Amino acid sequence: MKHVDLIAGARPNFMKIAPIIDALKAAEQRGGALRYRLIHTGQHYDKTMSGSFFEQLDIPEPDINLEVGSGSQAEQTAAIMVRYEKVLLERRSDLCLVVGDVTSTMACSIAARKCGVPVAHVEGGIRSGDWTMPEEINRVVTDSITNWFFTTSEIANDNLRRAGVTDDRIFFVGNTMIDTLLKQMPRLRAPKFWGALGLHEGQYFVVTLHRPANVDGEQQLSRLLRSIAEGTQGLPVVFPVHPRTAKSLHELEGQIPGIHYVDPQGYLEFNYLVKHAKGVVTDSGGITEETTVMGVPCLTLRDSTERPETVSVGTNELIGTDPAKLGPVLARLMAGQWKKGGIPERWDGRAAERIVAELERLVV
Ligand code: UD1
Repeated sequence: MKHVDLIAGARPNFMKIAPIIDALKAAEQRGGALRYRLIHTGQHYDKTMSGSFFEQLDIPEPDINLEVGSGSQAEQTAAIMVRYEKVLLERRSDLCLVVGDVTSTMACSIAARKCGVPVAHVEGGIRSGDWTMPEEINRVVTDSITNWFFTTSEIANDNLRRAGVTDDRIFFVGNTMIDTLLKQMPRLRAPKFWGALGLHEGQYFVVTLHRPANVDGEQQLSRLLRSIAEGTQGLPVVFPVHPRTAKSLHELEGQIPGIHYVDPQGYLEFNYLVKHAKGVVTDSGGITEETTVMGVPCLTLRDSTERPETVSVGTNELIGTDPAKLGPVLARLMAGQWKKGGIPERWDGRAAERIVAELERLVV
């Protein structure tokens, strides 16, 4: 028997880990030797940011919850490392599998490598080049100590090669976030407020904002929301508010007509909203992948992206963080002039299957 630790810590991890668990279970039923232990770091902890994803995506209860909770970047990193190291010292595993680019990803990979446990990184190799993002630091640090990389694109493969990683450690498997999306597509369902807000297919926008450059400071957030309200010409705008954004919103709430603030949504409700929206305005990375697969126009309020294929192949456009830039782009979208987009290579719903097939070969 070989034991793999699966690490999940924050909201964008949960949909990436779910199909890997399914594939590991299927391999076990076929008589495979891999067993897993699901470790939740507790970086995200409340029902809306964590619990509802476990329920909706049928993710089993974590075997271990490190319960680190909120804190500064250093506090969270340190607490996760200390607690995960203890877990490994009590019962070592044969592999630590991390996903994405959140603080939990970096902290657990460091703790594992220092305990002599090899690390596999799902979504390895992506780079924004923007060193003001904590996620970029998490990516580079994690990849610098990763043994095996499971990648989502040829661009990621090239980034890794440029950093000196040899091809025998890179596995271009596709995108586990898209595995989950394709599996859940038939189950997507309208949120309860659909009727109350008067939403109709293709007749509203979805907004998500949580990056410090856009939300830490009322001025910037207020300007962005005003530009969005103007540019969407009276169509309803649904804004599921991330907890960090809520702190900057208190002064603004209710003051911008057309913008509807709602709680963070469950996976099935959020992606239903995206699928039927006229467009999405966001500063998330993961959402640009989902809009690409669903063929929904996406405006990204950032200057760079670690997922360039969502722009070159998909429906995403990088707008930057200047509110003045939004007007003309939204006008183009409202006039029906948006690229159609295609689906990036190997985003076909089978990434987790490929990952587990490789793990069965690598972890022996
Ligand atoms: C984290 C990830 C980011 C990801 C985002 C998605 C890092 C560096 N960043 O950023 O990549 O896109 O999650 O959500 O890991 N909070 C709650 N309830 C929760 C969790 C958090 O109220 O369940 C509050 C925290 O107390 C904090 C704020 O939300 O005030 C931010 O949470 P934090 O985990 O620090 O980072 P995010 O900004 O969510």
